[in-house]
Amino acid sequence: MANQDFLNEINKRRTFAIISHPDAGKTTITEKVLLFGQAIQSAGTVKGRGSGQHAKSDWMEMEKDRGISITTSVMQFPFAGCLVNLLDTPGHEDFSEDTYRTLTAVDSCLMVIDAAKGVEDRTRKLMEVTRLRDTPIVTFMNKLDRDIRDPMELLDEVESELNIACAPITWPIGCGKEFKGVYHLLRDETILYSTGQGHTIQEVRTVKGLDNPELDAQIGDELAELLREELELVVGASHEFEQEAFLAGELTPVYFGTALGNFGVDHMLEGLTEWAPKPQPRATEERDVMAQEEKFSGFVFKIQANMDPKHRDRVAFLRIVSGKYEKGMKMRQVRTGKDVRISDALTFVAGDREHVEEAYPGDIIGLHNHGSIQIGDTFTQGDSFKFGGIPNFAPEMFRRIRLKDPLKQKQLLKGLIQLSEEGAVQVFRPLINNDLIVGAVGVLQFDVVVQRLKSEYKVEAIYEPISVATARWVSCDDPKKLQEFERKANANLALDGGDNLSYIAPTMVNLNLAIERYPDVEFFKTREH
Ligand code: G4P
Repeated sequence: MANQDFLNEINKRRTFAIISHPDAGKTTITEKVLLFGQAIQSAGTVKGRGSGQHAKSDWMEMEKDRGISITTSVMQFPFAGCLVNLLDTPGHEDFSEDTYRTLTAVDSCLMVIDAAKGVEDRTRKLMEVTRLRDTPIVTFMNKLDRDIRDPMELLDEVESELNIACAPITWPIGCGKEFKGVYHLLRDETILYSTGQGHTIQEVRTVKGLDNPELDAQIGDELAELLREELELVVGASHEFEQEAFLAGELTPVYFGTALGNFGVDHMLEGLTEWAPKPQPRATEERDVMAQEEKFSGFVFKIQANMDPKHRDRVAFLRIVSGKYEKGMKMRQVRTGKDVRISDALTFVAGDREHVEEAYPGDIIGLHNHGSIQIGDTFTQGDSFKFGGIPNFAPEMFRRIRLKDPLKQKQLLKGLIQLSEEGAVQVFRPLINNDLIVGAVGVLQFDVVVQRLKSEYKVEAIYEPISVATARWVSCDDPKKLQEFERKANANLALDGGDNLSYIAPTMVNLNLAIERYPDVEFFKTREH
């Protein structure tokens, strides 16, 4: 039996990530969330736009230059008796693989929508990913300080486009210059908005009840009347919040507010900490592993190099699934079967790296990695199961990479393989020649790779175009047929960074012909670690 203290630690953990379309306000919300979590003193330190300061979660130079967040960082903070782990995800489309993997490490998601724009493309895609595991979703409609679209229409759009029922928890009163606050449907009170409080926690002013004359006095007769009318409609036309449907990923509680004005983020956090699931089980080939199991286990979903130029190391991010991490404990890396003693795992409090003494299911710890840890690796306390479901996606863009100084070929290969292990890019080595082909899901990845090869591996590389349309991982149960395939299709075969056999197709037609020609060979668009 797990002891009560251990169970309490598990029960208070909430691990989530934010999904949104670029510019919807993810960074701003992160900043305000941390402000409420008292992890930072005043908002503005996460990404001090224009002030020369940059997000504590934005680590790399590239990000600073381009103002986009490439890396995934982890922030832990207390809120309402809970310990919240917020996993930041790269917003830019080109880094979607990282985002997908991060979504395997959370138990719930916050979906942020720009209420002036509604459901946007990237949100649609990310929601598809959360569907794979029925991750519970909390929704925040942002930018109410601007002229937004009709709130009812927004809910309809979320319901029809994302196929999830909406249960409004707060309802906005006006918008833009006329934004007065929100009515909290469950608390039956109006929370009033004041402008100019974006950088601090506001003093909360509320009016209890809808028929309270004080409401008319505060927001004006006209808006108060409109609110009463609207709410009648809203209550009739929308769903009530139901915990079970939320946990099944079928219904989302919806909040309205403005991250910039720091209004409504706290309501959302209250809902999230109250309703979002505590650390959930994760599947292995053998069985589901429960959080409350005493033996430690976890999986690596992300590897990041040189987050902080002062610490020139690589860190593997591990999500704890079960048991407790204690400083100095022994862990088994299941893929290699090796037992290692871990005495310097890192935790991430608002981007600062601190050594942790202990950590619990739902927490993320950073393991120092000297090249031996790969994405997808399972660590246990002696068990031999492996967690699954951490995807690699077939790249869609390819370039040949070549050195300016040919003497450094070994260094280039080492760099590329390490970068592919951490999922920054994929590398393919054709069986028939010494080319190195870099494959990416988004074009920005190419720039990152060249930059990192230069700064971390001291090699200057350049790209050349190559006529490759797509790649597939291949496998075949019949060793004889596989051999025959390897012989016949030799010119199109390559090994990826992890030595997995892949088929490199110059055109889609070529790929389709190959699939037809070798019916016993399976061609995979994604590869699970
Ligand atoms: P992202 O991480 O999702 O990409 O979005 P981010 O928070 O960076 O916000 C994108 C832009 O939207 C920023 O403006 C930000 O200030 C603005 N924004 C975020 N929340 C709100 C809100 O509630 N109301 C309004 N009006 N704007 C909001 P920017 O012009 O790109 O940056 P800056 O020049 O203002 O620094």
